[in-house]
Amino acid sequence: MSFARERQRTIYSSGMSGLLPRVPVDYDRLRAAARRVLSAEAFAYIEGGAGHEQTLDQNREAFRRLRVIPRMLAGVERVNTSVTLFNQQLPAPFLMAPIGVLELAHAQADRAVAGAAAGQGIPMVFSNQASVSMEECAAVMGQAPRYFQLYWSKNNDLVASLVTRAEAAGCSAIVVTLDTTLLGWRPRDLDLGYLPFLRGMGIAQYTSDPVFLRMVNDPTLLGEPAERPRLTVTTLKNLVSLLRRYPGGFFENLTSGRALRGVQTFIHTYSRPSLSWEDLPFLRSVTRLPILLKGILHPDDARRAVDSGVDGIIVSNHGGRQIDGALPAIEALPNVVSAVGPDLPILLDSGIRGGADAFKALALGATGVLIGRPYVYALAIGGQQGVYELLAHYRAEFELTMALAGCSHIGDIHSDFLRSGPL
Ligand code: FNR
Repeated sequence: MSFARERQRTIYSSGMSGLLPRVPVDYDRLRAAARRVLSAEAFAYIEGGAGHEQTLDQNREAFRRLRVIPRMLAGVERVNTSVTLFNQQLPAPFLMAPIGVLELAHAQADRAVAGAAAGQGIPMVFSNQASVSMEECAAVMGQAPRYFQLYWSKNNDLVASLVTRAEAAGCSAIVVTLDTTLLGWRPRDLDLGYLPFLRGMGIAQYTSDPVFLRMVNDPTLLGEPAERPRLTVTTLKNLVSLLRRYPGGFFENLTSGRALRGVQTFIHTYSRPSLSWEDLPFLRSVTRLPILLKGILHPDDARRAVDSGVDGIIVSNHGGRQIDGALPAIEALPNVVSAVGPDLPILLDSGIRGGADAFKALALGATGVLIGRPYVYALAIGGQQGVYELLAHYRAEFELTMALAGCSHIGDIHSDFLRSGPL
């Protein structure tokens, strides 16, 4: 039986026994359910976008404006949703977007997502800001596909170390995120005065890295001392939780001062605003893995990426978290596709909320799409099983959309299936 029909059958027959899906299938209900279990700070961090959140809204609006025109009597008894990406055959054109600080959503964090992704054969892109190290995630994934997302730090030795570890952890590609050389202006977080990294969250790739650990112990590498927060009960509470969370144990962290130095070293080093096209050859020189650039919206940047010899592009506006009023990724896609041509895979994220959105992105020339916030909400509600089910929902809806539009194979999906216009 097809994956989608099996999924529908399971859900409807469980419903006969009064059992409903653990994670709501509808996105708005999913988000609302997650909000109920998340702290105000966690929800703000996950949901928040830059400025007035116009990019966040427009990402969805742009998908809504695209309408599918299905074709009838196309003989679609069997639908094959599989795609090949960097020599790996995937069951469907989905990946898990790199998302940092997943411990905000669930104690098992990245480990739970890794298990779910592996269970569905959907590649997970390990975030550079993960809560669990790439090695620990890889350990629960068997041979399942995974990539590593890099934030290019100020220290090239650290960059090389992270990439070398990713190769050893079985990653099959490196995703370099270009759009976050600085943190966007995010009012939800600003109004709560909340940045998880300062509390020692989301820095597991660093605290497990030999080069980073050397940096922590080398005081000459630290820049200006970080601004000291005023001492209040809350400061002490946050300090205790940092000392508990940081690897090594509470008392050791308290007496050695290591946890505070670790966070300070991270803040000093994690981003490199001066990053330019001239830096890319360095990355090429330290890895044989395919390199994808994430955050491209302009066709000229896409052309430049091709000229730089990279292996793929991810069209993305970081889920609206960086620039308020940025071009929706799905609107940027057609021009990037025509600039790049058919030789490089082009992936897309920012606004994917179901299988029909993936169909639209593929119709506009994407090879695959990355799921972002929805899996974080599923994680918050149902842990590993929640993410596993969400992925099943996305795969099922994608397969049904293909079938109902008249497509048996991924190659049948093309721009003739879409019309765009005001609602
Ligand atoms: C992100 N994103 C992200 N991207 C990245 O390259 N490295 C990272 O560590 C993170 N962290 C992160 C945290 C949170 C809470 C969110 C919501 C997003 C961006 C992510 O990979 C992807 O581009 C967006 O999530 C896509 O937008 P939607 O579909 O989530 O709206």
